[in-house]
Amino acid sequence: MTGLLRLGVNIDHVATIRNARGGDHPCPLRAAHAAAAAGADGITAHLREDRRHMTDADILRLVAEISLPLNLEMAATAEMLGIALATKPHAACIVPERRAERTTEGGLDAAGTLAGLKPIVSRLADAGIRVSLFIAPEVRQIEAAAALGAPVVELHTGPYAHAGEAGDSRAELQRLLDAARHATACGLEVHAGHGLTYANVGPVAAIAELAELNIGHFLIGEAVFRGLDAAIHEMRARMSAARLGAAS
Ligand code: PXP
Repeated sequence: MTGLLRLGVNIDHVATIRNARGGDHPCPLRAAHAAAAAGADGITAHLREDRRHMTDADILRLVAEISLPLNLEMAATAEMLGIALATKPHAACIVPERRAERTTEGGLDAAGTLAGLKPIVSRLADAGIRVSLFIAPEVRQIEAAAALGAPVVELHTGPYAHAGEAGDSRAELQRLLDAARHATACGLEVHAGHGLTYANVGPVAAIAELAELNIGHFLIGEAVFRGLDAAIHEMRARMSAARLGAAS
């Protein structure tokens, strides 16, 4: 069955541009409202340890003032757990984080860090926050997420996106498809994201098991030329066309 595919818009890079000048323009909250008006189903924001884009104040304002569900991306640290428990976003996506990385480079090693993740996943879940783990499309990571009791996994589409730039993404697409099926069979809701663009979103959107895509950098970049509204509308149209094509 091919169901609805939600679009979560990651607005981190609105904050990146704002921080380049240290003022308050462009405002991530305004971007969140614009994304909502353009038909986004959710807003995603990553509060990094070094606060390079989103700030604590941004997260507070987003939780308080937007109507869409907020998905807080966070590292599995005591500090971020405390912030999540205090702010209570709709969802928390646990991501790996290295200070020197330019963006989230790999998936979370859930299988290798079960003991450390267990109390964090449990405390978020006990607070009513929907937990997802950002993982590579690998059986052992999916099974670790299921063992941890996380209801959602987000599959890392970065390797698929990079393979496409290099000319052949078929093997990476197959890994995503197999992983989405396996995760669904394990009872998990499946999301995907990272590196998605107009050019590569179609085959991912066509994976019937996926419930949500989270897309940021490309949309914010495209908004420079066309505005956020038009950029989001086109992404949605491409996602829907791929879904309909896959279902027919
Ligand atoms: N999902 C996760 C877990 C991420 O860390 C990111 C990047 O912050 C994204 C999705 C969005 O990736 P992109 O900005 O490349 O669209």
